[in-house]
Amino acid sequence: MQSKRVRVAISKGRILKEVCAYLAKVGYPNDIGKKDSRELIFNVKNLQILACKPSDVPRYVELGAADCGIVGSDCILEAECDIYEPISLPIGKCRMVLACPKNKKVELKAGMSIKIGTKYPRITQEFFLKKNIAPEIVFLNGSVELAPLTGLADAIVDITETGSTIRENNLKIVETIMEISAKVIVNKTSFRTLNKEIETITTALVKKIKI
Ligand code: PRP
Repeated sequence: MQSKRVRVAISKGRILKEVCAYLAKVGYPNDIGKKDSRELIFNVKNLQILACKPSDVPRYVELGAADCGIVGSDCILEAECDIYEPISLPIGKCRMVLACPKNKKVELKAGMSIKIGTKYPRITQEFFLKKNIAPEIVFLNGSVELAPLTGLADAIVDITETGSTIRENNLKIVETIMEISAKVIVNKTSFRTLNKEIETITTALVKKIKI
């Protein structure tokens, strides 16, 4: 019997490259990560892989445009979607941090005022709420590190992997907010109708990645 088609939304960039390399090793031959192409849809056996902007992956899965997805836990938390999150993967590891210019001091005290530049307003709000601080949030789409260097914000909440962007822009980490890694997410209807197919792929992937 032929396996049913499964649409998988994957974060463009490092996660897509890594996951596709692992998929090739577990019986889904492809050269997606190696291709220098602008294609966004790839058919590999019964998989249809959608190369999505990371922050869009949870929405594709929630709304059923994809049956499942692979994306960083930062984007899942920020999107607050109605989806299942059955499995964490030991890839895409990084940290969500609060950072400020090296020559400034940021001491978090209840009731203080502070302006934060970030792509993650929800995570930022929640982090500061726990400290009884109501930050002014400046929502940005990228190059967030510029904000405290130009006076747009006092500090940033962003992810860091190697630490290069923070270092090269004369910033320092004030506090780690959370550890991040990639997760498999599944649409609630597809979880029932494509359970076997999704389980086959994710089990193979998890086994290979953990080796
Ligand atoms: C991400 C993040 C940091 C950088 C951190 O940005 O927002 O800017 O990577 O990585 P590092 O610690 O390894 O230097 P991304 O590359 O996604 O680009 P963006 O700033 O345009 O969002």
